[in-house]
Amino acid sequence: MNHHITQTMAAGLLTVCLVGCETMSPSKLSTITKADFGKTSEGQAVEIYTLHNSKGAEARILTYGGIVQKLSMPDKHGKFADVVLGYDQLQGYLDKTPYFGALVGRYGNRIGAGKFTLQGTTYQLATNNGANALHGGLKGFDKVVWTAKSSVGVHGPQLALAYVSKDGEEGYPGNLEVTAIYTLTENNELKLEYTAKTDKPTVLNLTHHSYFNLAGQGNGDILGHVVYINADQTTPVDSGLITTGKFADVTGTPFDFRTPTAIGTRINDPNPILQYGPGYDHNWVINKPLGAFGLQARVVEPTSGRVLEVWSDEPGLQFYAGNFLDGTITGKGGAVYKIHDAFCMEPQHYPDSPNKPNFPSVELKPGQTFHNTIVYKFSVE
Ligand code: GLA
Repeated sequence: MNHHITQTMAAGLLTVCLVGCETMSPSKLSTITKADFGKTSEGQAVEIYTLHNSKGAEARILTYGGIVQKLSMPDKHGKFADVVLGYDQLQGYLDKTPYFGALVGRYGNRIGAGKFTLQGTTYQLATNNGANALHGGLKGFDKVVWTAKSSVGVHGPQLALAYVSKDGEEGYPGNLEVTAIYTLTENNELKLEYTAKTDKPTVLNLTHHSYFNLAGQGNGDILGHVVYINADQTTPVDSGLITTGKFADVTGTPFDFRTPTAIGTRINDPNPILQYGPGYDHNWVINKPLGAFGLQARVVEPTSGRVLEVWSDEPGLQFYAGNFLDGTITGKGGAVYKIHDAFCMEPQHYPDSPNKPNFPSVELKPGQTFHNTIVYKFSVE
């Protein structure tokens, strides 16, 4: 094993074998390797890590934004395809990205008027989404370079990313130390475990923003994907997609995904709250006790047979149907990304929670450790 590590390190790569390095072909090893991926406009070096499990699945993750740049998973015939949208080069991510594959923080989703009050102090954030704040601000966690540490453990190759967000960054209080650990498990799961600590009371809502297409990125729209969401209720929104603070029963509405239903079946339903999207861009209230880890959603792509399950300990799930993709982005392999060419499943707390005292709290206090685990589990049927 040591011999193998030394050889590959000499080639400028770090490759670690989990088991049986001598007898298995390279594609059957559980490995993590790194390579340069360019520089930010401020000249910061960005690296790309490639994670392989022994089943042939592959994830490529950038230190810039913790972006999942590629995620290769098998179909029902064992044929692999890249199931996430993105760019081939760093420049694409630097120029224009709707959060492709990124870590999102400090506050994923919207805060009304970009304003909240905590312990008597009112904080004003940048308003980067109409009148509201979205996804951490002008330079959120999706646009910073994280420090990386790689390893291969019993569960598979792992990339531990760390970032310290300074007190006042993007208007949020407290020095915040965040870690985001990605693992590509032997069960074809991409697992993301967040922890965070602060030195002042603050608010926090960390999530992940991969754009999935289970038929393979660049292979058309996701309207035929069949979705199940484990939720009896949503948090209705106004026309700016800010939650009203109420809860709504999904029964009899296009938000009822308790019976698996194709995304396209009701996406043009005249339901006014759906049309604010326009299309699905809403938060579901997951049926499970607060803080419990459980199944949030299951998505099936009938042609390839690929299945994605979303598991998390977060109370909510933002299901976004790629409504704002409009053909102006040319991504990986020259694919032009059009409306509904991908969907996002973002486990999180409810939108605008800092201003909604009846929603589960998003406050983090000094001495507490924030935890959030998100698992994207792939299989076939
Ligand atoms: C989230 C939001 C959407 C949109 C996308 C990024 O899913 O809810 O409204 O902003 O991110 O384009």
